[in-house]
Amino acid sequence: MDKLVIEGGARLAGEISISGAKNAALPILCASLLSREPLALANVPALNDVVTMRRLLARMGVEMHAEGATVVADAGRVTTPEAPYDLVKTMRAAILVLGPLLARCGEARVSLPGGCAIGARPVDQHIKGLAAMGAEISVEHGYIVARAARLKGTHLVTDLVTVTGTENLMMAATLADGETVIENAAREPEVVDLANCLVRMGANISGAGSDRIVVNGVAALHSAHHRVMADRIETGTFLTAVAATGGDVMLAGGEAGTLDAVLAKLAEAGVRCEASDAGIRVRASGRPRAVNLRTAPYPGFPTDMQAQFMALNSVAEGTGVITETIFENRFMHAQELLRLGADIEIEGNTAIVKGVPRLTGATVMATDLRASASLVVAGLIAEGETVIDRIYHLDRGYEALESKLSAVGARVTRRR
Ligand code: UD1
Repeated sequence: MDKLVIEGGARLAGEISISGAKNAALPILCASLLSREPLALANVPALNDVVTMRRLLARMGVEMHAEGATVVADAGRVTTPEAPYDLVKTMRAAILVLGPLLARCGEARVSLPGGCAIGARPVDQHIKGLAAMGAEISVEHGYIVARAARLKGTHLVTDLVTVTGTENLMMAATLADGETVIENAAREPEVVDLANCLVRMGANISGAGSDRIVVNGVAALHSAHHRVMADRIETGTFLTAVAATGGDVMLAGGEAGTLDAVLAKLAEAGVRCEASDAGIRVRASGRPRAVNLRTAPYPGFPTDMQAQFMALNSVAEGTGVITETIFENRFMHAQELLRLGADIEIEGNTAIVKGVPRLTGATVMATDLRASASLVVAGLIAEGETVIDRIYHLDRGYEALESKLSAVGARVTRRR
């Protein structure tokens, strides 16, 4: 199994180019199922999750052509409207085929994802919403089995804010009969990017980016071209890396407008970030100041940046209190950060992080995608060598992480 070996202490300087967003590319690839005509996508990141999604769509009969960051998905014929367990269990986002399959084919069979490392993560809101749109849904042998001759527009209010739930329902509604209103919708920029792509395909959607999305169903969607937005979590991860190590790095293509909560916390920490059309330039020197934060749905502080900020707080001046409100078991990186010398106490969904002047390298284990990213940030600061085991998590969500970091002066190598 691949490991990442980091020799800490290097100052980072230069330019990193930000990739397309994983969490936008995955739902947008699923949107291709909604049309008989091809969907051409640019800025698709080279990530294992994207490869898994392409494989899943190909198994359903979608013709996939990929060249560099361009992917063309042609769902002229969908032969097998099914997402098997072996793919859904490695990538929960596979649940995003449910809405499009049901809307386009009138049937879908999608494995229930089951538990995952960061918590139970049920999909009841996806199921409830589709049922309210007239689908007959049952769970058989671990699979969601759904049928609907044609979905009907309706008024939906989700019980909680769910990103992929909103995306599934919005996609399903594009081909439904009449108007669907989704209240309590997720406002994440990735929901907006998906809506923009769907509108290019001929969908009638308004309100994406607010908590009330209105979709008027159309008979069919058509061919379109769309460029996937920049990855705000990749951008945020590099921002914290530079904040922790000190340095001066231009994150080319980074979109500051999607990172307000993160940039506000970095400003509090004493890190200078300058946004321009070209991206975000980040400059830091000396120890950051500790920050308190609480994760919340967008535009609140993203749960996908919580672990990286825990690494940053580990070496900050002062004590930072981190509260995780989205996932119940998302502090697994804390145990690994302790092995590097961090001082962290966990009480329920709160982590109290007392900054220490230095971390020291050790062997640590990656437990999920963003936990792995926090260990990379910590490894970049720690004295001596940090070996991060199980980095397949990182390969799911970060494109060319070690070469991007090496290019700005980090000492990072992959050991096979
Ligand atoms: C998405 C992101 C993930 C991010 C998360 C929260 C993708 C592919 N993944 O995940 O990176 O960490 O948003 O910003 O975009 N919930 C239910 N029932 C449901 C759906 C969700 O109880 O039917 C709960 C979840 O267990 C969780 C909370 O709602 O506690 C938010 O989850 P959700 O927004 O759905 O996360 P994902 O869409 O899976």
